[in-house]
Amino acid sequence: MQTVLTDSPAEAAAFLNQGELVAFPTETVYGLGADCRNDAAVSTIFTAKGRPSDNPLIVHISDPSRASLVAGDISPSAQLLMQRFFPGPLTVVLKKNDTVSPLVSAGLPTIGIRCPAHHRAREFLRLCHHPVAAPSANISGRPSSTDWQTVSHDLAGKIRCILKGEQSSIGVESTIVDCTGSKPVLLRTGAISRLDLENATGCMIADATRMTDEQPKSPGQKYQHYAPQAEVILYEHDTPPAVIPLKAGCISLGDPLPGCSITCRCHSLEEYAHHLFRFFRRCDISGAKAVYCELPPASGIGSALRDRLQRAAGHR
Ligand code: TXA
Ligand code: MG
Repeated sequence: MQTVLTDSPAEAAAFLNQGELVAFPTETVYGLGADCRNDAAVSTIFTAKGRPSDNPLIVHISDPSRASLVAGDISPSAQLLMQRFFPGPLTVVLKKNDTVSPLVSAGLPTIGIRCPAHHRAREFLRLCHHPVAAPSANISGRPSSTDWQTVSHDLAGKIRCILKGEQSSIGVESTIVDCTGSKPVLLRTGAISRLDLENATGCMIADATRMTDEQPKSPGQKYQHYAPQAEVILYEHDTPPAVIPLKAGCISLGDPLPGCSITCRCHSLEEYAHHLFRFFRRCDISGAKAVYCELPPASGIGSALRDRLQRAAGHR
């Protein structure tokens, strides 16, 4: 299949409305979209990515008011969170309604809903006839794509169209909050921190983001993620390790480790998030034998970074 690269949201939406897969930019990471009402199209998302079919997809809407197209019931906590953070880097999990295909929700009675803030994404979503089911636009297990070139590297020939945009400004996936119970539960960290969520809702938010052997609340949390090909070695600023391999990468807030030839020095947590996944890809292309990553402090988006880094390292 030939993959069309376009700058036109209208051209991209026309492909999606015909039942084709279309990758599109958002401020978190690029998404791989299909019409959420089209089972055949949704099932090709899983094939194109090599994604396990028990891992549900987030549904993307062009405007917060469209949440009721897929949600069965919008709980008071969800209402507060959507008022405060939609459009933006937040996904709320709600009870789904009957229009949502079980393929999208992987058989769960719930649905993840996100309204991105990205201008071109919203224009594209507005032109799509129905909400758009979309995971991150990468091969399963690989780092999420934060630029269209990486989407093309992973998926060209397997999908119909890539709607081009600039590099995703945030660089890590949305914060996910389960709002189906009496109290909201944090399922995945992102640019919106647990403290931000507590301030918006006025209640304590339980944290279910840790990997456990029990059934995770968010199916995707049980899979290893985000890994470059080389081994990922994490270190704290105060205890830098000795670098052994000849060709090593290092992403850091302070000076990069001596002996690393592929480096990315970040001046803030936001910059670290913006660069992380693209840096992993750069390490792959450069044939890095190891990738050293300084663990950032766990404040703000630092919690999301620590989560992604620990998953990339396979919790070593
Ligand atoms: O920023 C993002 O969220 C990006 C952009 C494209 O919107 N999307 C994204 O999708 O990261 P994906 O599929 O890579 O990650 C979605 C995560 C998975 O871990 C999945 O298990 C979880 O969301 N999820 C989806 N629906 C869920 C549900 N109903 N209940 C619990 N977890 C759910
Ligand atoms: Mg993903």
